[in-house]
Amino acid sequence: MAEILAVGEAMEPALALLLGGDVVAIPTETVYGLAGDATNGIGVARIFEAKGRPRFNPLIAHVADMAMAERIASFDPLSRKLALAFWPGPLTLVLPQRPGNGIHPLVTAGLDTIAVRMPRGFGGDLIARLGRPLAAPSANSSGKISATTAQAVAADLGGRIKLVVDGGATPVGLESTIVKAEGERLRLLRPGGIAADEIEAAIRMELQRGGTAGVEAPGMLASHYAPGAAVRLNAGTVGEGEALLAFGDHRAEGWRGATAFLNLSLSGDLSEAASNLFAYMQDLDRSGARIIAVEPIPFDGLGEAINDRLSRAAAPRDNAQPTT
Ligand code: TXA
Ligand code: MG
Repeated sequence: MAEILAVGEAMEPALALLLGGDVVAIPTETVYGLAGDATNGIGVARIFEAKGRPRFNPLIAHVADMAMAERIASFDPLSRKLALAFWPGPLTLVLPQRPGNGIHPLVTAGLDTIAVRMPRGFGGDLIARLGRPLAAPSANSSGKISATTAQAVAADLGGRIKLVVDGGATPVGLESTIVKAEGERLRLLRPGGIAADEIEAAIRMELQRGGTAGVEAPGMLASHYAPGAAVRLNAGTVGEGEALLAFGDHRAEGWRGATAFLNLSLSGDLSEAASNLFAYMQDLDRSGARIIAVEPIPFDGLGEAINDRLSRAAAPRDNAQPTT
């Protein structure tokens, strides 16, 4: 079983594992990550193995500072502006790779672009000490809900990794927003911990969405973030045997009959809802409910990312190929 060490005592053991080509689960401001040295093929392969993640699905390279980011990727002016505005923070930029950047090709699944992010907190310190980027997907088995506590990581991956660094519950609770440079424009590949309208305000330009280019983050398949229970969205009533994931102070009809009940945010605060989302889905799942009914959540601000994750949790699972 993995050892769980508090951030204050984890730096040296984490470094030793990474230098030995092993993986370590670390807290970031978004969700926990399963980190390996991005320049070491053995370390990167262990990440895919521990998660059961298909090799075609590329990983984010996490950096400690702008100089490290510029060594691995080429920044256009808009992307640089976003990096300066939001890093360190929950934003990932997909950029052209610099040839000969030393990143192992497994990290990018052979693409000529690379996803780059500068995390806050322990992760950033660890990367600075290592002096090399860390490849880190969310620290969950492929297709499952991302972990927002060290205990959730240990419960899922504890049998397959040696160390979980415990930084407490992650403050943002949703994965980073992913944006890709496309010529003069930027495309939103994944809504996440920074609301799209904040990004649009910073660049004074609308983000491209969906559309014809068909470029989605390869990990964004329909069924994802899947709890064991079925998930029913926009519930106005609660049915027999259903647990209720509530939002705000207006309850769905029949809520007193719910087999289990949690409220993402009584005051209707979307940041609070985001930080509670994954842990509450796991709690309701553990309650043994057959179905988790979810009250409507507004789409503005962080609501876009919350609704994105919920609709993936609710998607049919029949021929699903779970990924990240
Ligand atoms: O907040 C986060 O982003 C967390 C923390 C640990 O940093 N990480 C995370 O990683 O969510 P992961 O692997 O679970 O999700 C990364 C997503 C995947 O959907 C992957 O397909 C996409 O980023 N991605 C990675 N490289 C890409 C690229 N070159 N082009 C397009 N999408 C890419
Ligand atoms: Mg993931």
